[in-house]
Amino acid sequence: MRTIIEPFRIKTVEPIRMTTIEERRELIAAADYNLFSLKSDDVLIDLLTDSGTSAMSTNQWAALMKGDESYAGSPSFYRFEAAVRELMPFKHIIPTHQGRAAEHILTSIITQGKGKGMIVPNNTHFDTTRANFEDAGIDARDLVIEEAMDTALIHPFKGNMDLQKLEKLLSEESANIPMVEITITNNAGGGQPVSMANIRAVKALCDKFNKPLIIDSARFAENAYFIKLREDGYQDKSVKEIVREIFSYADGMTMSAKKDAFSNMGGWLALNDDEWAERARTRLIMTEGFPTYGGLSGRDMECIAIGLEEIVEEDYLQYRIRSIQYINEGLDELGVPVMKPAGGHAIFIDASKMLPHIPALQYPAQALAIALYIQGGIRTVEIGSLMFGRQADGSEKPAAMELVRMAMPRRVYTQAQADYIIEIFEQLRENTSNIPGMEISYEPESLRHFTVKMKPMGAGFR
Ligand code: F0G
Repeated sequence: MRTIIEPFRIKTVEPIRMTTIEERRELIAAADYNLFSLKSDDVLIDLLTDSGTSAMSTNQWAALMKGDESYAGSPSFYRFEAAVRELMPFKHIIPTHQGRAAEHILTSIITQGKGKGMIVPNNTHFDTTRANFEDAGIDARDLVIEEAMDTALIHPFKGNMDLQKLEKLLSEESANIPMVEITITNNAGGGQPVSMANIRAVKALCDKFNKPLIIDSARFAENAYFIKLREDGYQDKSVKEIVREIFSYADGMTMSAKKDAFSNMGGWLALNDDEWAERARTRLIMTEGFPTYGGLSGRDMECIAIGLEEIVEEDYLQYRIRSIQYINEGLDELGVPVMKPAGGHAIFIDASKMLPHIPALQYPAQALAIALYIQGGIRTVEIGSLMFGRQADGSEKPAAMELVRMAMPRRVYTQAQADYIIEIFEQLRENTSNIPGMEISYEPESLRHFTVKMKPMGAGFR
């Protein structure tokens, strides 16, 4: 069926403030053409991220009241811990305020201050994971399969690790590799899933070279559902069983509960190794909080516990994956160069194909993102040369791809809003050759896309 209805109804609504094209042209100029600098009240459809932006369920709101804010030994922690362990049976579960805090602690326990010369392979590091590793001197290496680089190529598991490259790296550099990581789904590579066979094979290589395998698990349920849909032998397994199998191959995980736990805040680090866990908890107390709350309040832990039950419900996952596909298909029919197949949490548009008149170092994906905001009040994010172009030595190099990501918040937007997004592209299509390239007028030393100031070139946005 073309339509899979939203498996929920709306109990509380948040009004959206309508704006006109003229107003938005001024608002984005006043924000120096940086979408992060906009006030969210000036956005109609906010697809900047699917992180922390989920709608909570009635059960989650009810659970908030049960939050126990004791400093130590809160029952909310034990409910949270049990809910995590139900899906991911790790020995140590360490709450943090969000995913990157777990990454920071993991980095400190593997390096113990001596990260220089170390290498951590991953299918593709998410930007905070990469930043945490690189800040500690680690070389964060992306080893995703070649197929991932071709946005038009259909492959069921475009997030897979390139096993040959991984084996080569492990045999040449074993002494310098403290751990291997897999990101499910592969966010930076288009929200593409990793197959169970690939996870199993990565684990076998880790065993051969005696390395721990850590899973960056932000979108674990979406990944598990893709396995159910696409991988032989999993059609009759429940998503919960698939999730348990995934984590049975791992020695630890980092998690952003702001994605596949329906929480507005939260995360955790889970480990099996006692010594690593002890180091992690010592660090946790210094930077986050006592081990039975980490960086969270009791009510956050209650929300996560319920969210983990809801995220593996298959009616929800069917709707979730279908709602992303629906927009992807609608855009594809219009001839918009979308990444195929659709990923689990976002639609990715290949701006280098849609705006071939704009060279990479005039940031075509940023130009497209600005045009989408002006035309329809839709906020997206550039994942291209603006995000990745600045090199450590200060030089500038085009990124591998120039993408615009439209990340869909969970349980938030309706099908009518999805149709609106498609219609905005239809309007934009008539005018793409007028979209100007962009130049930078100010940038900070690192992570520039968050605070950069930009200007359109030539006659600007018309
Ligand atoms: N890992 C992945 C794969 C992520 O996508 C993110 C966050 C993190 C780790 C960090 O988690 O935000 O809780 O600290 N991704 C968001 C995004 C920000 O928009 O894709 P966090």
